[in-house]
Amino acid sequence: MRTQSLVFVLGLCCAATIAAPTQIVLDTSLAGDELAPRKLHGRFLHITDIHPDPFYDPGASESSACHRASVKGGRPAGYYGTPYSKCESPFRLTNFTLDFLDEHWTSEIDFVIWTGDNARHDNDKHIPRLLDEIYDLNRAVAKKMEHVFVSKGIPVVPSLGNNDIWPHNTISTGPNKIFEEFSSIWNAFIPPTSSASFHQGGYFSTEIIPDAVAAISLNTLYFYKKNYAVGGCNFNDPEDPGNIHLDWLEEQLESFRSRQMQVWITGHVPPSEKGYFPECYYRFVELNLRFQDTILGNLYGHKNIDHFSLLDADDINMSTEESSETSAGSTLFDFLIADFSEIPEPLEEIHYDNYVVVNTNAAIVPRPYIPSFRVFAYNVTGLSSTARHVSSDPYLQTTKAAWRRRALNNEQLRTSNQPKCRQLEYRDTWRCHFDKPRHSDSESPSRSNSLWSPLGYAQFYMPRLGEFDQTHDPDFELEYMTFPLSRMHPDEETQDTTNHQYVMPLRLLPEELRQPHAVESEYTPYKLDDLTIPSWLDLATRLAKEKELQIKFKEFMYMGGKET
Ligand SMILES: *[C@@H]1O[C@H](CO)[C@@H](O)[C@H](O)[C@H]1NC(C)=O
Ligand SMILES: *[C@@H]1O[C@H](CO)[C@@H](O)[C@H](O)[C@H]1NC(C)=O
Ligand SMILES: *[C@@H]1O[C@H](CO)[C@@H](O)[C@H](O)[C@H]1NC(C)=O
Repeated sequence: MRTQSLVFVLGLCCAATIAAPTQIVLDTSLAGDELAPRKLHGRFLHITDIHPDPFYDPGASESSACHRASVKGGRPAGYYGTPYSKCESPFRLTNFTLDFLDEHWTSEIDFVIWTGDNARHDNDKHIPRLLDEIYDLNRAVAKKMEHVFVSKGIPVVPSLGNNDIWPHNTISTGPNKIFEEFSSIWNAFIPPTSSASFHQGGYFSTEIIPDAVAAISLNTLYFYKKNYAVGGCNFNDPEDPGNIHLDWLEEQLESFRSRQMQVWITGHVPPSEKGYFPECYYRFVELNLRFQDTILGNLYGHKNIDHFSLLDADDINMSTEESSETSAGSTLFDFLIADFSEIPEPLEEIHYDNYVVVNTNAAIVPRPYIPSFRVFAYNVTGLSSTARHVSSDPYLQTTKAAWRRRALNNEQLRTSNQPKCRQLEYRDTWRCHFDKPRHSDSESPSRSNSLWSPLGYAQFYMPRLGEFDQTHDPDFELEYMTFPLSRMHPDEETQDTTNHQYVMPLRLLPEELRQPHAVESEYTPYKLDDLTIPSWLDLATRLAKEKELQIKFKEFMYMGGKET
């Protein structure tokens, strides 16, 4: 019955987009939206680590990876998934999630960032994973993504996860069978201009807002320490797949920058000193710093833990390397708080040129926490065009002209003259070869709220996953938002509702936040005006000091589950 009604809802929605839409508009600010060519909403979705499992069996035991009943008993697998478990997602949860996004969010967003792992883990020795199963699962989810988003004109940007290949984590240079297969599975997402890079290395770039905003989908497995098939970006090994990938990234950034475009960098495994080969990590940090005026942000998955982290100039400076990392505690939370505590104070002392922010999203798979996705808002104030015609928008043209004029102020930082670089041990390492000028600008969108700047995000989750079954329909709820509530509603004095950009559609928020006079609440502990680098550093320094804020941050990371 349940499946039938889902199919029915899906059928209705899709018939409506093909024929003249007779959408029931709940929020009057959105009226007429679907009739015209898509205008920009200033929002996008980030979803990651879906991990569907075709062998998932409701009622089976958790100890069998939710695949079989067990004599030992134990907690039975839930109908829509098993919260805080070692089990993966039943297809029912994957389908519900994408149908939910279809119903509630497709009329509100401009593009989708989807950062990998669309197959189950290899965690059941009775049913080993095979490459064909991995392809089939990826194809099933990709088809659904295509149907829900791409068919409505919403670009989707996938990236390759460490469990999307076999054996997991391990992939060498292309062309190979795996990239060939994925280029067919992702045919609707990879533009023809990126076909060559994808066959070569499983990475690509795509202009999600043509001539204005691009996404670069990395193959982070070339930087991932657990990938035994690559060399780890050694300076003397220009043919290493990681080095070739970073050469390509550098060219991409150069080219987008020369066109005054802005870029989101996306991938599966987030960059960190622990997760990446050191030489890959240094190169990656340096490129991010060097193109700080072009990169809007970094978006990843893999860890299934909601958090943000900082890459900074000290990471590539041999004189300061001792101070960081070693002192950190045992959990990711401890490590992050220790790292945030090293930010100089007061805020006026911070050189914002020296930082890059990495956003790692929570997963859909309830392993080891509960399903969650994120919707970002970004600045589209001043644009009057639809997405397709934005390249000739007068406001964009003016903005680009201003960036072109400012692009000349760059600081040259030589790293090759550090004393250690005279030693044989260090001479041929990347950190002794970062001599190119850095492109940073305090008025770039990553540094100050302006066209394309990320403004904030809302995190949605499913805390009652365990209660949902044949008779209780699942639902996603708001977990928290980074905005202050005042950012949600039009200015009290002018009450300008026609020009107001609603950072989140009110109808999708809890009742208590919808009122224009709503007060700050549990949902809005961070009160960040935007997600520029100075705002993130402000939050990081507050987190280093304020115990209550730390408790909130930790709660969002682990969602009430075990700390890792
Ligand atoms: C999930 O959706 C796909 C395609 O929409 C369908 O073929 C499949 O049977 C669904 N699976 C479940 C468990 O609902
Ligand atoms: C490295 O750190 C030292 C000590 O803080 C500083 O004096 C130097 O300018 C830094 N070098 C670079 C290239 O950032
Ligand atoms: C977007 O940036 C402009 C400055 O370029 C600013 O005036 C405007 O308020 C910003 N929009 C939002 C919604 O923050």
